[in-house]
Amino acid sequence: MDRIELRGIKSIRGGLVPPPDKSISHRAVIFSSLAKGKSLVKNFLMAEDTMSTVAAFRALGTDIEVRGGELSIHGKGIHGLKEPGNVIDCRNSGTTMRLISGVLSGNPFFSVLSGDDSLRKRPMQRVIVPLRQMGAGITGRDNDRYPPIAIKGGGLKPISYVLPVASAQVKSSVLLAGLYAGGETEVLEPLQSRDHTERMLPSFGAEIVVKGLSVRVKGAAELRARETIVPGDFSSAAFFMVASLLLEGSEIIIKDVGTNPTRTGLINVLKRMGAEITVEQVREVSGEPVADILCRGGSPLKAITIQADEMPLLIDEFPILCIAAARAEGTTEITGAGELRVKESDRIRAMATELKKFGVELEERHDGIRIKGGAVLKGCAAESYGDHRIAMSLSIAALMAEGTTTINNASCVDISFPGFFEELKRLSLGSGMGEHG
Ligand code: S3P
Repeated sequence: MDRIELRGIKSIRGGLVPPPDKSISHRAVIFSSLAKGKSLVKNFLMAEDTMSTVAAFRALGTDIEVRGGELSIHGKGIHGLKEPGNVIDCRNSGTTMRLISGVLSGNPFFSVLSGDDSLRKRPMQRVIVPLRQMGAGITGRDNDRYPPIAIKGGGLKPISYVLPVASAQVKSSVLLAGLYAGGETEVLEPLQSRDHTERMLPSFGAEIVVKGLSVRVKGAAELRARETIVPGDFSSAAFFMVASLLLEGSEIIIKDVGTNPTRTGLINVLKRMGAEITVEQVREVSGEPVADILCRGGSPLKAITIQADEMPLLIDEFPILCIAAARAEGTTEITGAGELRVKESDRIRAMATELKKFGVELEERHDGIRIKGGAVLKGCAAESYGDHRIAMSLSIAALMAEGTTTINNASCVDISFPGFFEELKRLSLGSGMGEHG
């Protein structure tokens, strides 16, 4: 078990280019592997989760060369994949498993998807139900609830599917299967989730029509190779944004970060809390908005209420938002966040348990949390539960806590942000960061 030790600091200052976007990196590998010809992916996220997708497509016969942060992918078209010789190990990555399930449902061979202890506890019925409706032979462990998932695909028919919960992974899985079905497949979401698939697939040649919360894809399509430049990951930038806003005298500029509005709900929430955030130099890269974000600390944040309709737009920012709430004036209430219980860990339980160790008063709810702000955080022995976003959020809490904090199982940050602790150390001013334990 690896452990990191952190001490309080005064402020953070400087410039940061966040690691490349995880969601877009996964999709770039998947869509390029299904396209005919050589696709390039520039500024690809070299991290555990996205390398699981690379390994999966290699196992399916795609030739992928990795040079630094650049991939050359030699796709053979949507029917060019081959039966894998072994179980595909998606490790910790739900995006890998759910999106690839859609692809494999369109392919007439046998495949099995599995993952690590965390992924094998995550719900898969949500993809199995629609993919089976389309005609795939797909089953999962424990009455289709969990991985491993076994698939014998092919012969798909289009469906119109209403998602029971907003989920970009499920939406994308059904749309990918829809590429293999004759006719038009439609997905309707209850709330808007991240829209990278809808933005990216047309540039590979797919016909996609988006109307409000409905997305339709035309089947029997051939995808063509293209170049993708991946922007910086807003979800990784979020940890540094919140750190700078909570530590007086801080100022950071986060450069080249994706600002797709289906991802940046946290900016709206923090601004409502009174934060000073400026989004500048907005431009477009590979169909995605990209900008520089300037954050200045000092103005005290005020508690707010966050409801279900905002959650999908800040789904991965729940843990770091809890840290902001713990320091804000007043009581923050987050509701409609039940999905957080089935992420890489039960993030509601994890944040409730760990924040209490820091001395925060809170109440855990079945679909959210109520956090009493203004606490003086006290250093403690914290646990990451092997969840990258919990580890990074607790690290930010440690920077403003009295005394020393240890975070157990901290190397899981490599799932989405290799070099996180080095960046934190580089930007930290004051009493300095601790060393790896
Ligand atoms: C992702 C979608 C989100 C998010 C996850 C990545 C994606 O999950 O939490 O980290 O790349 O599609 P949902 O399926 O709940 O939207």
